[in-house]
Amino acid sequence: VEETYIMIKPDGVQRSLVGEIISRFEKKGFKLSGLKLFQCPKDLAEEHYKDLKSKPFFPKLIDYITSGPVVCMAWEGVGVVASARKLIGVTNPLQAEPGTIRGDLAVQTGRNVVHGSDSPENGTREIGKSCCFSTNTDSVECGPKSFCLE
Ligand code: GTP
Ligand code: MG
Repeated sequence: VEETYIMIKPDGVQRSLVGEIISRFEKKGFKLSGLKLFQCPKDLAEEHYKDLKSKPFFPKLIDYITSGPVVCMAWEGVGVVASARKLIGVTNPLQAEPGTIRGDLAVQTGRNVVHGSDSPENGTREIGKSCCFSTNTDSVECGPKSFCLE
């Protein structure tokens, strides 16, 4: 069955949008088949976005993706790759339609809360070995401890 790699970016985690974003994919009817909180190291972020290496914003993009924990997910379903891209909306949140995740929840291209694979081949690749989703890590801490413990 088709699968896609969905990653809630550090701004989405920091803004407590994890539940909201997961809920949209659940309500649509796709199946969550894997999930973890992950601090993406620089080398994996560069691998994930290697097609954009020549872009002027590439260093900022890598700083952004590695700036805090991300939520890595695998979602399955018929047509899930293209459908997830529609649910997410276009790259620039100001141009994304209301009703999409980016259209409803973001304003900046450089802080657009979520990633979705752009083809079934990339979905499988991004979930595979040596990518964020499958790389083992020690436990990750999310946000300042004092926020929830004091
Ligand atoms: P992803 O799902 O994250 O791959 O986004 P996308 O497929 O909609 O866009 P693309 O793969 O072309 O770019 C990857 C990410 O790079 C975007 O989601 C943005 O976070 C960032 N990005 C793309 N274009 C720009 C830009 O012009 N400026 C900045 N600052 N960031 C950009
Ligand atoms: Mg992309």
